[in-house]
Amino acid sequence: MKETVAIAHPNFALVKYWGKRNSNQNRPAMSSISVTVDTMISTTKIFKNTQLNQHQLFINGIEESDLSKILPPLEYLSEFSRTDENLVIESQNNFPTSSGLASSASGIASLVTAYEAHYDLCLDINHKVEACMLGSGSAPRSLIGGFVLMDHKNNYRCSQILKEPEWPIDVLICITSKDPKEISSREGMEISKKTSPIYQDWLDINDKHINLAMNAIKDKDMAGLENVTEENCKLMHKVMKTSNPSISYMTDVTHSCLAEIENLRSSGHSLFYTIDAGPQVKIICDPKSTEIIRDTIIDKTSVIDVVYAGLGGPPRIIDED
Ligand code: DP6
Repeated sequence: MKETVAIAHPNFALVKYWGKRNSNQNRPAMSSISVTVDTMISTTKIFKNTQLNQHQLFINGIEESDLSKILPPLEYLSEFSRTDENLVIESQNNFPTSSGLASSASGIASLVTAYEAHYDLCLDINHKVEACMLGSGSAPRSLIGGFVLMDHKNNYRCSQILKEPEWPIDVLICITSKDPKEISSREGMEISKKTSPIYQDWLDINDKHINLAMNAIKDKDMAGLENVTEENCKLMHKVMKTSNPSISYMTDVTHSCLAEIENLRSSGHSLFYTIDAGPQVKIICDPKSTEIIRDTIIDKTSVIDVVYAGLGGPPRIIDED
């Protein structure tokens, strides 16, 4: 029986998406900019389901009952494959799932990549973006390596700002907890859209943050990227906090990482942080400082682990037979 296996990497947003224009089609209300990381990997195998008349999804070996993130992409892709074949989808992550580490982005991007190869489709990038976006608004960015722009004013076109080797920077992922989050991004951003009094300010600042980040990345300007990334992150967490009910993903360990980042910066190291819908802290740094930053965070905080990554490439097929 034919099996196809693809891998994809997660991406972390520097200018973030938090809020949808349209929930039915899962359309983000703003543009975003991300980095794709290399050492974290989702590996997804697909093959025809001969046992059951439905799709089945297994994540890290456990069957998932909630297929809401994969059915819309599969339905969209079936228009191209012209088949209603049911699939078994087996996805493995080499990092904690559903705890603010973008596992749905890499999981969906690897599924779309595997599907395209499995049915010998030659989809253009816009169709792959659409398929991924129907699953998760951040997933299309994992279709591309390096620094990526997802432009909501240009039909969510995804483009590469810089290729992964063009500006070697490191990413350290401080794992502060491996527990799944209590409020999903999907629920959280809906609450924020409906209730945060500063949600409109968040929408209004998007253009400015996108332009500042685009210019900083093109100029390889670490200080410029630090300013806009941290400002954007702080504002998103303020939108969450001012929502009703108030949403907070940060823990004491998250805050202790932030305090150490400030200390390292005061000692002259070039680094900045971002935090998504979870307690993990992602540090972007000059490779010259990676080792000392990693050692300091491990010594001075109670993080579970610090995962090292460089910038990653696009998804790829690793096995087909
Ligand atoms: C904070 O892409 O997980 O990580 O579209 O509902 O699946 P859905 O949401 P998701 O939200 C990502 C939120 C974020 C910021 C970002 O990655 O841009």
